[in-house]
Amino acid sequence: MAVEIRDFLPHRDSPACELLVSRTLGPHDAVMAVENFSEPLGLPEWSAEVAEHILVAEVGGRIIGICGWWHEHRLPKWAACLYWFAVDPVYQRRGIGSQLLQATEASAVKWFPSMFVESTPDAADFYLKQGYTRTDYRLMQPFPGTILLVKQL
Ligand SMILES: CC(C)(COP(=O)(O)OP(=O)(O)OC[C@H]1O[C@@H](n2cnc3c(N)ncnc32)[C@H](O)[C@@H]1OP(=O)(O)O)[C@@H](O)C(=O)NCCC(=O)NCCS
Repeated sequence: MAVEIRDFLPHRDSPACELLVSRTLGPHDAVMAVENFSEPLGLPEWSAEVAEHILVAEVGGRIIGICGWWHEHRLPKWAACLYWFAVDPVYQRRGIGSQLLQATEASAVKWFPSMFVESTPDAADFYLKQGYTRTDYRLMQPFPGTILLVKQL
């Protein structure tokens, strides 16, 4: 199975990514996705205040995975945050999540030496296997019910 990891293209990819987020992360995230995907924030050289980079995984021209990082000025200068991480359930446990995560980390490390993730309890084992560890760092506005993990990239 040939998997292509590439940049998210707002106009082309938004509908497929919104559907993927809605199916895998739930309706609350789907609402935020519609807003975010229509106006991506851009990379740090374009704005000192907010930045992000979103990647997608494609198989046979179909988007089956998404992963991104974001940063804003209220976060520490040394870490980005992982978000929008999901793989279509049909394609899970085939290494696509690991590939997407590695590509996202390779992008973020150009600007930030570490990555946070607010993990759902179900996904925490995945991140621990990828080298993330629990942290007591206090993020602004943490998502309720999540576990904060960090990794030095
Ligand atoms: C988390 C997620 C993106 C992982 O994607 P994936 O393509 O299945 O991941 P991989 O196939 O690369 O998994 C690599 C290893 O991580 C572990 N792993 C993967 N998913 C796991 C899970 N849900 N729970 C525990 N361990 C998991 C496994 O050990 C797996 O290796 P194995 O299949 O050989 O045992 C995917 O499960 C997903 O989309 N989940 C729903 C959305 C979600 O929870 N997103 C994260 C929110 S913080």
